[in-house]
Amino acid sequence: MKILVTGGTGYIGSHTCVELIQKGHEVIILDNLYNSSIDVLDKIETITGVRPKFYKTDILDKEGLDKVFAENDFEAVIHFAGYKAVGESVAIPLTYYENNIAGSINLYQMMKKYKVRNLVFSSSATVYGDDFEVPFKEEYGLGTTTNPYGTTKKMNEMIITDMNKAEPENSGVLLRYFNPIGAHESGLIGEIPNGIPNNLVPYIAQVAAGQRDFLRVWGNDYDTVDGTGVRDYIHVVDLAKAHVKAIEYAATHKGTEVINIGTGKGYSVLQVLHAYEKACGYPIPYKIMERRPGDIATCYADTAKAEKLLGFKAQYDIDKMCEDSYRFTRKLKM
Ligand code: NAD
Ligand code: UD1
Repeated sequence: MKILVTGGTGYIGSHTCVELIQKGHEVIILDNLYNSSIDVLDKIETITGVRPKFYKTDILDKEGLDKVFAENDFEAVIHFAGYKAVGESVAIPLTYYENNIAGSINLYQMMKKYKVRNLVFSSSATVYGDDFEVPFKEEYGLGTTTNPYGTTKKMNEMIITDMNKAEPENSGVLLRYFNPIGAHESGLIGEIPNGIPNNLVPYIAQVAAGQRDFLRVWGNDYDTVDGTGVRDYIHVVDLAKAHVKAIEYAATHKGTEVINIGTGKGYSVLQVLHAYEKACGYPIPYKIMERRPGDIATCYADTAKAEKLLGFKAQYDIDKMCEDSYRFTRKLKM
């Protein structure tokens, strides 16, 4: 299939491009390089032997988008482009709504104009809010989001659902990611956080690399195995493989499906820390702090629907996620 990947030089996008190319798909990347580097194209080429066609285009630029669609006969779109920092979204909500909502609508309008019917969208487990019991099931629907970033994911889900009702030939798969971590085994692509990382594993990676003194563990008085927060971490390469299955599913079905992508298993902050210590071979200092506002105790996926509809099951465990993250971070420093 000829597939447009928006945000394709980003963290999850780059891994997905690798898996798509390795499955024989033709990938065209569109990214404004706000949070990624053009060098990623070299890395994708080194891993796969194929250099994807690239457009430095902003999804807010309607004319630019039109040109990309006019020049290519896309069969499908995987839409990753967007802003993703929770705290920043609270501080500058309009910027988040403009980029993640107005930008996405531009893209969907272009898909309509050029009759590109198949879409996979990057949603997040954050749309469940803290309204439901774990494991989170797709049938629960949308919860109460706690920040503008989460609300942009929820709104996109609603927009795509309505759009596909109006256009019954369309097909949309809304993937609700749990916590993607890790990096490609080659150590060539991975997550490069901007500024001080908010997420757990990028922060641990920087402590392990000596860039920060200790991990701040946000609370140890939750009702969990050791009192620290529990999440469903998934290897980014597993997540990338789920996208290949999702876009192939979209191309052969109509309507809209919401699908969780996680492992179905939860690990606590301290369990992840210890897995990372095993990967790097030395202790990682940490201090217990107050709870972080907005955090929930436990979050993990019910993965039955992904298995049933997509035939997808995550393969990699927490040790492999930490080993690959550590390898990528070490290479970055070299
Ligand atoms: P990322 O920041 O690494 O990748 C996003 C890419 O989109 C970047 O390369 C950025 O330059 C590009 N981009 C942003 N705004 C753009 C615009 N207006 N026009 C063109 N390109 C633009 O993020 P990621 O971690 O790879 O996440 C990809 C998607 O998955 C995002 O939509 C994110 O919200 C979603 N998601 C991520 C996580 C996570 O933990 N990483 C979890 C759930 C959902
Ligand atoms: C966070 C976002 C979520 C977003 C997701 C993207 C919040 C409240 N939620 O989810 O909306 O979709 O990232 O991946 O920001 N932790 C520490 N110390 C740290 C960092 C994290 O103890 O320095 C703990 C947290 O309290 C939590 C766990 O590690 O228990 C995971 O945190 P994080 O990686 O930020 O992910 P989420 O909170 O699940």
